[in-house]
Amino acid sequence: MTASKYYFFLRHLLPSSQCRARSSVRRNFTGPPGVAVIMTTIGIIGAGNIGSQIARKSVELGYDVVISNSRGPETLTDLVAELGPRARAATAAEAAAAGDFAVVTVPLKNIGDLPAAPLAGKIVVDTNNYYWERDGHIPALDNGETTTSEMLQERLPESKVAKAFNHIYSAEITTHGTPAGTENRRALATASDHTEASNLVTRLYNEFGFDTVNIGALSESWRIERDRPGYGPRLTAAGLTEKLAEAPRTI
Ligand SMILES: NC(=O)c1ccc[n+]([C@@H]2O[C@H](COP(=O)([O-])OP(=O)(O)OC[C@H]3O[C@@H](n4cnc5c(N)ncnc54)[C@H](OP(=O)(O)O)[C@@H]3O)[C@@H](O)[C@H]2O)c1
Repeated sequence: MTASKYYFFLRHLLPSSQCRARSSVRRNFTGPPGVAVIMTTIGIIGAGNIGSQIARKSVELGYDVVISNSRGPETLTDLVAELGPRARAATAAEAAAAGDFAVVTVPLKNIGDLPAAPLAGKIVVDTNNYYWERDGHIPALDNGETTTSEMLQERLPESKVAKAFNHIYSAEITTHGTPAGTENRRALATASDHTEASNLVTRLYNEFGFDTVNIGALSESWRIERDRPGYGPRLTAAGLTEKLAEAPRTI
């Protein structure tokens, strides 16, 4: 029996939860050689422009997603119906607990509300940007003394934060990806103080259809923050690397 026939067979014989578990794509993202670390469920905190788009692409790729917002799972019925059987809505704490890793995609001003305990020990993919018009002025950011992702890492000291998806418009997450090796493939930047976290983002980007430029530590991630030359335009890895080098520390 071929794999696709086997999953068709399972779908018709097993309860949907078991079927989903059996047919999920299994991934070993971060473990040392020979140690299987299975990453199949993504806990998404924030279900707006970016959270919903990351959820759409993730379910298309075979991940299970547990998605949350600030108002409660009952407000996510339509999104979950659209996403299909790989998705469910939950509270932020439940999404954090359920995820093999998490995506935090809420306004920066709200990171103080995030559930730190269920994110402890986990990789947290951080899409945040600083918009003082929305978030209020934060002097340490205005003065170039910290970065948005360092702020999240401080808020979640037991987690492994990696900046990602912060400089691509939400609609482009599902439309700009192309297979590895495609000419002029778009590249996206990441940064982290934890190699396993930037490695996970690199593999996730590749699955989503993007090359990666690794900026290095979170303290360097200002290079891809708002209003820098790499923020927004579609760029290849070479082009993005140039723009990162040109970026001014403060705007
Ligand atoms: N829009 C873009 O194209 C884009 C691109 C790159 C990066 N970003 C950045 O990514 C982040 C998210 O952007 P967005 O455009 O997706 O924002 P958005 O559309 O305003 O969505 C924000 C989401 O966060 C949820 N939320 C707020 N506080 C929360 C909390 N304490 N716990 C759980 N969920 C909470 C909101 O829930 P409720 O609706 O229930 O309040 C909403 O679902 C921002 O930092 C933004 O600057 C945005």
